[in-house]
Amino acid sequence: MISAKTEEEIALLRESCRIVKECLAFVGERICAGMTTKEVDALVYDFIRASGAEPSCLGYCGYPASACVSVNETVVHGIPDGRVLQEGDIVSVDLCAYKNGFHGDGARTFCIGEVSPEKKKLVRVTEQCFFEALDGLKAGTPLYDIGYKVQRYAEANGFSVIRSYTGHGIGREMHEDPSVPNFGRRGTGPRLPENAVLCIEPMIAAGGWRVKVLEDGWTAVTLDGRPAAHYENTVVIREDGTEILTL
Ligand code: MF3
Ligand code: CO
Repeated sequence: MISAKTEEEIALLRESCRIVKECLAFVGERICAGMTTKEVDALVYDFIRASGAEPSCLGYCGYPASACVSVNETVVHGIPDGRVLQEGDIVSVDLCAYKNGFHGDGARTFCIGEVSPEKKKLVRVTEQCFFEALDGLKAGTPLYDIGYKVQRYAEANGFSVIRSYTGHGIGREMHEDPSVPNFGRRGTGPRLPENAVLCIEPMIAAGGWRVKVLEDGWTAVTLDGRPAAHYENTVVIREDGTEILTL
């Protein structure tokens, strides 16, 4: 079931998403070489708490931090630790804020100093995959058109789409129906109702799409060790387009 939110609910989601958006910008202004991923997590925790919200990820299914901080070959769910960020790294920071009963969710991939041309292109293409998916998206669009457009753009650029993680609905729960894959067949899937709220989050790999999860039960890395990037926004499906709540 893909639920449609009321305007009152969307107003509350907008507030949670505003915190996510501002937190991502706050982190983007500070993240740099020499910082540990745990220090990045502390920035996120402090910012979200100071905004009168809770970090939704902290304690979610036992997850031990406020943000997922995923470096280079880590696709998603990197657990913050003592790892020191280096010039040339790409780092995805994914975070959720919970306030007034609603969650907001967003992610960016940041470049630390000068990164390789391949990583630079990967980050740019991953962001553009999101905007490709938004092109023409509105109430009535078949759900898997989103993944179709992400996949088409990623593969046209020589990259691959991560299969085992997807976007999702969001609201009173961080993960609601539907699952929003980043691959698919055009014209298929349920039609999106007006005022559905979705997290659209391309996860794109420079090499192959296969991933493995490390011993910690969270950290997902590419099997071939090549870099991956992630970009996510919370989006409202409107009658004639979309409203991005975290941008
Ligand atoms: N923000 C993530 C998502 O897009 C949630 C990460 S899982 C958690 O689904 F355990 F870290 F919360
Ligand atoms: Co998400």
